[in-house]
Amino acid sequence: MTLLRLPGLVDAHVHLREPGYEHKEDFYSGTVAALAGGVTTVLDMPNTQPPTATPALLQDKARRAAAKVVCDVGIFAGATNNEIDAYLPAAQTACGLKIYVSDTFGSLRIDDLGLLHRLFRTWGEKGAQVGYRDAQHPHGLGPVAVHAEELMLPVCLALSDLYDVPLHIVHVTRRSEIELIRRAKAHNYRVTCEVTPHHLFLSTEDLSRLGTLGDMRPRLATPDDVAALWENLETIDIFATDHAPHTLAEKGIGVATPPVAPPPGVPGVETMLPLLLTAVHANRLTLDQVLARCVTAPQKLYGLPVQPDTYIEVDVDAEYVLQNAAMKTRVGWTPFADIPVFGRVERVHLRGQVVYEAGQVLAAPGSGHVLFQDALADQ
Ligand code: DOR
Ligand code: ZN
Repeated sequence: MTLLRLPGLVDAHVHLREPGYEHKEDFYSGTVAALAGGVTTVLDMPNTQPPTATPALLQDKARRAAAKVVCDVGIFAGATNNEIDAYLPAAQTACGLKIYVSDTFGSLRIDDLGLLHRLFRTWGEKGAQVGYRDAQHPHGLGPVAVHAEELMLPVCLALSDLYDVPLHIVHVTRRSEIELIRRAKAHNYRVTCEVTPHHLFLSTEDLSRLGTLGDMRPRLATPDDVAALWENLETIDIFATDHAPHTLAEKGIGVATPPVAPPPGVPGVETMLPLLLTAVHANRLTLDQVLARCVTAPQKLYGLPVQPDTYIEVDVDAEYVLQNAAMKTRVGWTPFADIPVFGRVERVHLRGQVVYEAGQVLAAPGSGHVLFQDALADQ
C-alpha cells in the first residue's frame, strides 16, 4: 500500500440537477459522490429546471446548496434566449457564464448570432468594469464557458477575441477542435479548454457494448479523435467530468417500454481520479499532469481559494474493479462498470476535518461552502 497525500480535486463541470431533477441527483447525493472520488470542489452547471438564469435563481440555488453540500460548490449562471442577460447584476456570485450553442440536455440553447454578440459584449463590459477573478481579485468575473462543437467553436473564438472575453471550451472531443484550440493559443487567444475522462478513455468502438449508457453530448468520438486528445495533452488545461446523471430507466435499461429519446449524459465525478491514476500507472500520464489539470488549472481559471488543509489520502496501489453497486451517485451506475482500476480514496479532509473515510461520508449536509456568495456584499 502506498498512501499519497494529494490536494482535493476540483471537478469544474458537474450537473447536480437541483432544482428540478432531484430524482437524478441533488446537492447532497452529488457532493457525496464527489468526496468518494477525492473531489473537494465542484462547479455546478445551470441546465436545471428552472435554469440558473437570473439573480433570484442564482440565489435560490445557492440557498439550496448551502443546506446540503458536503464539499465546496461554485454555481454557473446560464444564458437563455428569453432572459438574455438577466444574470448580469449577480454575475460575480457565479463561477462563470455557461453558454450552450450545440446539442444538449434541457432548454438552454442559444442559436442566434445576434444574441451571442450581445452575451459576449455585455460579459466583456462587466469584466472590463470589475476585472476577471484570480487569486488577487476574488470578486471579479469568471470566464465564459461554452459547449461549442465543430463549426460553433471558431464562432465562439472569434467573439471572445472581438470582445476580449476569456473563453473556456468545455468537453473538447475532436481532432479538428483540439488542433484549432492549439493554434488559437499559439496566436494568444484568451482560450482554455477541458476534456472529460469518458472522451479520453472511451470511443465509438465502445458504443455497441454500452448502448444508451455510452450516449452523451458531445458523443463519443472516433479512435483517431481520441488519439488527437492524447497527442495534444499540453493544449488541455483541465480534466473535468461533465457528471450528468440520468436514471437507468430514463436510459431505457430494465423498462418494458424504452423511451424514444433517452437523455444524453453519463455520471463521472467519482470515477475520474481512479481512471486518471490508472493512466499514471500505465505511464500514459504523470501525476503532475493530473494535478495540474484537476487542481492548479481550475483553481487559477475560476479564481478558487487555495486550501492547504483540504486534502485527500489515496492508496495508489489499490487495484479493484469499478462497479455500479459501489457508486454513490443517486443513479447508481457508471459507463466504466467492470473496468479494473488503480487508486482508492481512503480519506478526505476538508478544512482540517475528516469528511470521508473507508467509504463513508462523515460530514453533515451543509458543511461544504458555496463559493463567491460574498462577492457583491464585500466590495
Ligand atoms: O451529455 C450531456 N448531458 N451533455 C450535455 O451537454 C448536458 C448533459 C446533461 O445535463 O445531461
Ligand atoms: Zn455538461
